[in-house]
Amino acid sequence: MTEHASDTATIDPIKRAVHAYREAFGEMPTRVAFAPGRANLIGDHTDYCEGFVLPIALSIGCACAVGSAEAASLEVVAADFNESTRLEVDGPIEPDDLNDQPGWARYAIGTFETASRAMRPASRGARMAIASSVPLGSGLSSSAALEVSVAMALKGLWDASIDGVDLARACQAAENNYAGMPCGLLDQLASVFGATDHAVRIDCRTMDIERAELPNRDVAEFVLIDSDVRHSHTTSAYAERRASCEGAAASLGVRSLRDVDTSDERIGSLPSDQRDAVLHVTSENDRVLRFIDALAAGDLKAAGERMVESHRSLSETYRVSCDEIDVLAELVNASDDVFGARMTGGGFGGWLVALIRPGSGERLMERVAPAYAERVGRNATLRHIVPSDGARLVESWS
Ligand code: GLA
Repeated sequence: MTEHASDTATIDPIKRAVHAYREAFGEMPTRVAFAPGRANLIGDHTDYCEGFVLPIALSIGCACAVGSAEAASLEVVAADFNESTRLEVDGPIEPDDLNDQPGWARYAIGTFETASRAMRPASRGARMAIASSVPLGSGLSSSAALEVSVAMALKGLWDASIDGVDLARACQAAENNYAGMPCGLLDQLASVFGATDHAVRIDCRTMDIERAELPNRDVAEFVLIDSDVRHSHTTSAYAERRASCEGAAASLGVRSLRDVDTSDERIGSLPSDQRDAVLHVTSENDRVLRFIDALAAGDLKAAGERMVESHRSLSETYRVSCDEIDVLAELVNASDDVFGARMTGGGFGGWLVALIRPGSGERLMERVAPAYAERVGRNATLRHIVPSDGARLVESWS
C-alpha cells in the first residue's frame, strides 16, 4: 500500500500524529498508518443482517504513529485531546481493565488487544500517537477510522500478514467488546477497502467486496450536509434495533433477515418492531442493488428516488432518524438541483448524503441553510466528498 495523501484532510492528521509521537517519546515513529472515515451512499442498518451496503471512503480520517517499547507496556497519546495513557500489557487486556480509561482510549487499547490476538506479535510493548480529522460522533465513522488506523499501524510494526476482512473484524471486535457499541462491519470495511473515485459494494454475508462506479463529476456529485445534531443514547437505540432484527429472524426461522421471503404471511403477525425491521431491511437490501444498477445505467433520477425511499424507510419504518434530519431531508429533496438525499450511517442526527447536479452545492445551501435555521434553529453546512483510498501505511511523513 502506498501513500496517497493529496488532501490536507489526509496530510494534517498524519503530521499531527507524527509530531505528537516525537514530542511524547523523543524519537521518530517506526510506522505511520492512515485510515479514512466513510459516508454510506445507501444500505443502512443492513450490515448486521448480512445485507448489502455501498459506502465511500472519505479524505478525512485518522492517523496512528507507532513504535515498539522495550517494556511490556502500551503508551498512547491522543493529539486531539492532549491526553495520554499508559498500561501494562504483559497479560491479556479485558474490557473491565479499561473502566477508568477515557472514551478514546477504550477504542485505541481495545483495538491494540484485538489486533494483538489476531496478529500474535512476538513482543507487545508499543507506543502510539493518534490524530484525526473526522468530526467526532457525527456519523462519519470517527471510531472506525481510529480503530483501523491503529490496527493498520500495528500490522506494519509487527510485520504481520492479515487480510483486510480479518483486520476489519478485529476492529469491530474492539468496538463491540471494549467500547460497548454492537456495530456491524460496514464502517470498518469501508475504511479498509475504500477506493479513489469509487464507492464500494459490499455483500455482508459473502464478504464479496467490489468497486462500484460513481457518476462522472460533470454529470452529478455526492455531497454531505451536516444537520448540526449530535444525539446521545444512540448506542442503546442501535442495540434495540439490532435486537428487533435478530428477534424477527428467530421468529421466522431464518439465519438473518437477508433470508426472509417477503411473501411469508407470518411477517404480518410479528410484533410491530420486528415487522418494521423486516420491512426496512428487506426493502433496503433491494434498494442498494437497484441503486447500483441505476448509477451504472446513468439513470440519476432512479438513483435519487431510491435515496429518498431509503430515507423514508429509515425515518418512518425503522425510526432511526430525528426531527432535524427529517426537516433537512425535506428541504434538500425539494430542490431541483437534487436527485435525492438521505441520512447516512447509524442515524439519530449527523449528516445527509445527497446526489446533486454538479457544482450546485453552494447554490443549494443558500436556500436550504436559512430555511433550516429558521425551522430548527441550527446551522446546516455542506462538505464535498472526495472518494478516497482505504487504510494504508504511509511511506514518508517527515
Ligand atoms: C453504524 C454502525 C454500522 C452500521 C450503520 C448503519 O455506523 O457502526 O455497523 O450498522 O450504523 O448502517
